[in-house]
Amino acid sequence: VPFVLNAWYVVAWPHEILAEALLARTVCNNAMVVWRGTDGIVHALEDRCPHREMPMSLGILEQGGLRCRYHGLLFAPNGKCTEVPGQDRISAGLEIRRYPTVEKYGWIWVWPGDAAKADASLVPEAYAHNDRADLEMVGRTAHFKANYLMVIDNLLDLTHEPFLHPTSLGNAAVYEAPAETFIDESSVRVERWMLGKLGSPMWVGMLQEFVHYEGPCDRWQKVFFAPPSGIYLHLGAAPAGAGALQGDLSRSAWFINNQFLTPETETSTLDFWSVANADFGRERIAAFMDRARDTILKEDQIALEGCQSVIDRQPGRKNYSIPTDKAGLAARRIVARMLAAEKRAQAHSG
Ligand code: FES
Ligand SMILES: [Fe+2]
Repeated sequence: VPFVLNAWYVVAWPHEILAEALLARTVCNNAMVVWRGTDGIVHALEDRCPHREMPMSLGILEQGGLRCRYHGLLFAPNGKCTEVPGQDRISAGLEIRRYPTVEKYGWIWVWPGDAAKADASLVPEAYAHNDRADLEMVGRTAHFKANYLMVIDNLLDLTHEPFLHPTSLGNAAVYEAPAETFIDESSVRVERWMLGKLGSPMWVGMLQEFVHYEGPCDRWQKVFFAPPSGIYLHLGAAPAGAGALQGDLSRSAWFINNQFLTPETETSTLDFWSVANADFGRERIAAFMDRARDTILKEDQIALEGCQSVIDRQPGRKNYSIPTDKAGLAARRIVARMLAAEKRAQAHSG
């Protein structure tokens, strides 16, 4: 089994679910059709008509349900067939698999596993930040043709910044300052402080713009992994000695960057990424994200997709880890334990 299935995964931003429109998304190899019902609730069904396997995402929304565009079978949001045109009888088994959904912390989540186990309280709390009233948040969706664990590795080891992102995030200060890694049973946290160093090009610009400061700075990266595939980052810089290390962010530039990496298939990933901040303002955040998408994300995409294509050439070939892989390896161990537990539970019930 390649994915932990009994877990919540982000399937969409609320703004991606347009009124009276159907959205086709794949989560952990489960193709789904997602829409917002007339009741305001987001529904998700398997993207497959049980009659002749027409994609339901090509269907027609009506009467609070979804009609297949091929021979017109009508299904309720719970997946049950409620009408077969021209027939009085509907076979009891004529239904589509329904996926539990929940709207929480600014995201729409689906549960690709056993529906009976879906519990809204299991949405990782790390993402409560998406909803903070004191922050302005802009959300986007990116797509990588790479396994989701490779994206998690990437975010848990930011020593790649000086090499992959030299014009924005990266300078030598990043690898000169060792990161501390904190690992427990169900989470991984990485914290790096670059104290009294020159900022990278992007942080030099941010400090000029928001703090009107030029000179050595105290810069931080805090990265938190919430299994199976959520990453929360707090990134910032402040004038050297201005108190950021002690928690005083009054003279600093910082933002929260949430990323939920939803596996689409074994070799492709949806990245629901956001930037949240208290002072930038919505338009400035959006402009910043446009630049990040065309530079930072593109650079990560080239690396991740390049690595995936090399792996595909000779799957299973050994690669070598170095000390900065500590957090990524710990995240993979947590996911592996969750997979093993799910497999054991399945063996017991099956
Ligand atoms: S394939 Fe859907 S109604 Fe026939
Ligand atoms: Fe990167």
